[in-house]
Amino acid sequence: MRLIMLGAPGAGKGTQAKRVAAKYNIPHISTGDIFRANIKNQTELGLKAKEYMDKGLLVPDDLVVDIVADRLLQDDCKEGFILDGFPRTIPQAESLDKALLSMKTKIDYAIDIAVPDENIVRRMSGRRACLKCGATYHIKYNPPKTEDICDTCLGEIVLRDDDKEETVLKRLGIYHEQTKPLIDYYNAQDILISVDGTVDIDDVTKSIIEILGV
Ligand code: AP5
Ligand code: MG
Ligand code: ZN
Repeated sequence: MRLIMLGAPGAGKGTQAKRVAAKYNIPHISTGDIFRANIKNQTELGLKAKEYMDKGLLVPDDLVVDIVADRLLQDDCKEGFILDGFPRTIPQAESLDKALLSMKTKIDYAIDIAVPDENIVRRMSGRRACLKCGATYHIKYNPPKTEDICDTCLGEIVLRDDDKEETVLKRLGIYHEQTKPLIDYYNAQDILISVDGTVDIDDVTKSIIEILGV
């Protein structure tokens, strides 16, 4: 199964992508996680990406597209994958279509997690993220078993640098401008699935899996 997770910042893409990846045994590929790992390791890519991310801006397309195309060529993607946070612009979507065509394959579904802006801002201040494995928590809706420690890898969980309220608002603006048009893009390809992202985390997962099938 080849999937894309769409949705505003904080809609729950990472939370749901991890669950769907585990259920269908496919890799979860988050460009945000890839950038954050590079920032942590102070690579050249990380230093470049951080400049944009801290301001709530998108990293330029040319820094993202090749990373994803290379990742999709790895062996573990043969039977499928779930992309989270990519594509985020129409040019990225077009590059992805091209890369997949050259691999003689295509996306099965793009899943849009719909959440209104008001809910997003409320959610983000409570979000905590593991910088080691990318797991996401929420101090109220999805707390880790031990405070500040990741359930999965025992790494430290922190408030992300870009989760300050003003940066979240900036990210939301950019989402509406540059990423939301992807909903029409995938609708036109007849592979768009939309789910209500305002209900409980488990219920969102259920509705996604119901549509994808077992
Ligand atoms: P990225 O890491 O992709 O961030 P984002 O899109 O802003 O999305 P988030 O990770 O903030 O939210 P999410 O939808 O994953 O929600 P989550 O599951 O954590 O990108 C970061 C930056 O990297 C970008 O701003 C950009 O600069 C750069 N970048 C990345 N990819 C790029 C690309 N392709 N091109 C250019 N630049 C790129 O959930 C949020 C919170 O809500 C959590 O606390 C969670 O526990 C909670 N929650 C989830 N679901 C529910 C629910 N149903 N009810 C209550 N709480 C919930
Ligand atoms: Mg995420
Ligand atoms: Zn972790």
